[in-house]
Amino acid sequence: MNLASKYYRPKSPRGGCDLDRTITFAEPADEETLRTMFTAAGMDLAGEAEEHVVLRDGANILAGGRLYQADEDLFHLLVFAVAQGERGRGTGRRLMRELCERPWEYCRDAVEPTGGTFRITTMAKGESAAFYKRCDYRECEASLLPPPFDSQCEDCPDCEQCGPVAMVYSRT
Ligand SMILES: CC(C)(COP(=O)(O)OP(=O)(O)OC[C@H]1O[C@@H](n2cnc3c(N)ncnc32)[C@H](O)[C@@H]1OP(=O)(O)O)[C@@H](O)C(=O)NCCC(=O)NCCS
Repeated sequence: MNLASKYYRPKSPRGGCDLDRTITFAEPADEETLRTMFTAAGMDLAGEAEEHVVLRDGANILAGGRLYQADEDLFHLLVFAVAQGERGRGTGRRLMRELCERPWEYCRDAVEPTGGTFRITTMAKGESAAFYKRCDYRECEASLLPPPFDSQCEDCPDCEQCGPVAMVYSRT
């Protein structure tokens, strides 16, 4: 069942004891805040604001990301970032853990994989690969990423400086 909806809110936010922290889809009004967070991390919004999920503490957005379902059992994480002042406190791990647990709930127009197994791929910027490894991703060939993401860095002039690392999380 596809639980994704504009105002979907998980019943019990996991991974911490602060009950003011929730993980929801972003709303249109969050666009500027999200854009500021992603551009500070060298990225940008990946589509409409409402396609992203955000971890909030009350009214403040602490972290966000956008998943895309490429196939029933294959998701791709297009962008993921934690607000600058919030890094290094376990916030990224908390949001990532939730996304990896039930990616279809945090992805617009997604369906739950029927077989119970799935993969999430992403292209990490070099320095963030260590974070992904701490979140149980492993390095993989870029060809494992769904198109067009398998070749997204090929013609990028910043590729050498960025040091992209293709990564995959597998739920078996
Ligand atoms: C990378 C990022 C998402 C990590 O979020 P965070 O909230 O700071 O990470 P956490 O505090 O949850 O750290 C979880 C673990 O990853 C490790 N980690 C996080 N960032 C790391 C880094 N840059 N280098 C090495 N290890 C890192 C932490 O030490 C921690 O390890 P532990 O299991 O030993 O405790 C965040 O720093 C960020 O937004 N960076 C800029 C954007 C970016 O690079 N996004 C990734 C998409 S390419």
